Amino acid sequence: MKHLLGIKNISKQEILQIIETAKNFKEVLQRPIKKVPSLREVTIANVFFENSTRTRLSFELAEKRLSADVINFTASSSSVKKGETLLDTVQNILAMKVDMIVMRHASVGAPHFLAKHINANIINAGDGTHEHPTQALLDCFSIQEKLGEIEGKKVAIIGDILHSRVALSDIFALQKLGAEVMICGPITLLPRYASALGVKIETDVMKALQWCDVANVLRIQLERQQIKYFPSLREYSLYFGINKKMLDSLDKEIVLMHPGPINRGVELSSDAADSHHSVILDQVENGVAVRMAILYLLAQ
Ligand code: CP
Repeated sequence: MKHLLGIKNISKQEILQIIETAKNFKEVLQRPIKKVPSLREVTIANVFFENSTRTRLSFELAEKRLSADVINFTASSSSVKKGETLLDTVQNILAMKVDMIVMRHASVGAPHFLAKHINANIINAGDGTHEHPTQALLDCFSIQEKLGEIEGKKVAIIGDILHSRVALSDIFALQKLGAEVMICGPITLLPRYASALGVKIETDVMKALQWCDVANVLRIQLERQQIKYFPSLREYSLYFGINKKMLDSLDKEIVLMHPGPINRGVELSSDAADSHHSVILDQVENGVAVRMAILYLLAQ
């Protein structure tokens, strides 16, 4: 692999290789000295055209733990504001002898476009409503860590599926690893092409919780919604919000996940997000090891 643009076009073996490598890096991250010299000769640019907390910081930390040289670019404080194009921006960054680009962009396909025009390795850190491959890989790592294996497990992805890049990458990754996937949300927030993805479709959140081993809850992406998909956030929360009482009422333990950022009181109550069911902060911790693995493998 030269780039990591999405999960759709990588194989089960490649996913398993990333997860196995991430296990080794997670072990490194438990040591007093968390740094290894693997990418000492490599320069990486984190190029973010959209806001991010977890992905940007986790990539930066992963790069520094691997001893890479790191530069950070944020579109809102750059010459993009003066009219510079995406390609010109990236060509200028590469002229400074950068080897790898980690990019988040609001436009679907932006990293795929770049991959056709430049020579550096590109990692997609989220392109519009399309894919977020590193989130899916850390989600798979976290499920495997918690449940031992992914094959045969039932994963319900609950929330705004239509505008989510996490949903699509998770569906591709989980299916490649042998999980059964359900999507659940208001019918207006489920994509019309959902049946072509080979997932179960549910609009009753309690039925989804009763069915699954893992519930991956997604936020409502108001910033991507041009029209109203449901009457109000209060009504969404009433019908699709998940609280601890619902989780405790199940006749089994399920794993509660969320890629963040959480809108507390909308898709998840605080008592659910902070409960023993939740592995949300484990996902964040695992993100560093998984991103170290991806950077390391692409640099080989
Ligand atoms: N999960 C995730 O992509 O979070 P950020 O938008 O904060 O990076």
